[in-house]
Amino acid sequence: MLKPEIEDGQASLADPQFRADVLAGLARRPRAIPARWFYDHRGSELFENITDLPEYYPTRTEVALLEGLCPELHQLTGKGRAVVEFGSGSSTKTPTLLKCVEPSAYVPIDISGDFLRESSRTLSAAFPELLVLPFEADFTRPLTLPHTIHDAPKLGFFPGSTIGNLIPLAAVDLLRAMRASLGEGAMLLIGMDRIKDAGVLVPAYDDAQGVTAAFNLNLLERINRELNGTIPVDAFRHRAIWNDDRARIEMHLEATRDVSFAVEGRAFEIAAGETIHTENSHKYGPRDARILLRSGGWTPIHEWTDDEGKFAVILAEAQGERPAP
Ligand code: AVJ
Repeated sequence: MLKPEIEDGQASLADPQFRADVLAGLARRPRAIPARWFYDHRGSELFENITDLPEYYPTRTEVALLEGLCPELHQLTGKGRAVVEFGSGSSTKTPTLLKCVEPSAYVPIDISGDFLRESSRTLSAAFPELLVLPFEADFTRPLTLPHTIHDAPKLGFFPGSTIGNLIPLAAVDLLRAMRASLGEGAMLLIGMDRIKDAGVLVPAYDDAQGVTAAFNLNLLERINRELNGTIPVDAFRHRAIWNDDRARIEMHLEATRDVSFAVEGRAFEIAAGETIHTENSHKYGPRDARILLRSGGWTPIHEWTDDEGKFAVILAEAQGERPAP
């Protein structure tokens, strides 16, 4: 459902953090806007379409892994944990997990309250016995989880390789925040996309049908809609680049000619060839993934990967206060 503030384009009703990030991001060099702002209603729809693309292997690879890991996972986690999902969105991967671990409760956390309530209703209908406690919050900060699940050991769930959106420094901070939120005895099941041939990676982020291009360009349309922008969207093109040094796919919006426009009454000029950096998608080799987890306070205990090693789902346990050297 469109929100009224989007329909009538009143900038005063836009998310103040969106406004601040866009204005600061367009003014800085290199220009960059955080990837979290892709996901307005249209952007979430386009992302769903991306997950069905032939070139976009991560979602289908991860879903197949989640379907296959059940018996082993059940062994490793035991039953009765409270499952806490970070950035649950539409919770499409959740039923597979819930069937497997027999949780005592399910706590989906998301910044988008709309999506959260909708998917919680669907899940409650599918699992009528399960205690579902939706939690609208920014999970990048340590949170106090609902008191009802205080005594249950937790299983964090962070699928989709969303961790890859963060630079390693911020990824470590997030893992530590999760460790703090989930507490002693917690486990974490996390999806991470692996480093692979650029010939596979680049098309996954620059598909033949142009869905990823539309997803990227929708950010400019969202700025025009919600922040009184006058950006000539047709003057920008989608770019996906493999940055081998930093092991990440970068998405940019490149100006194809000199442009000037306004956002919230502020004037901007972008020269032909200049880009706005809109997303990083970091990829982690097997050892990289384990070092990242340990740095964030988690000890990897098991991992599942497909035959070609394209994607990994890793189970880790919370390190104690003073981890062994
Ligand atoms: C949702 C962050 C996992 O990085 O692969 C897909 C987002 N961007 N195509 C990813 C995305 C372009 C996706 N994550």
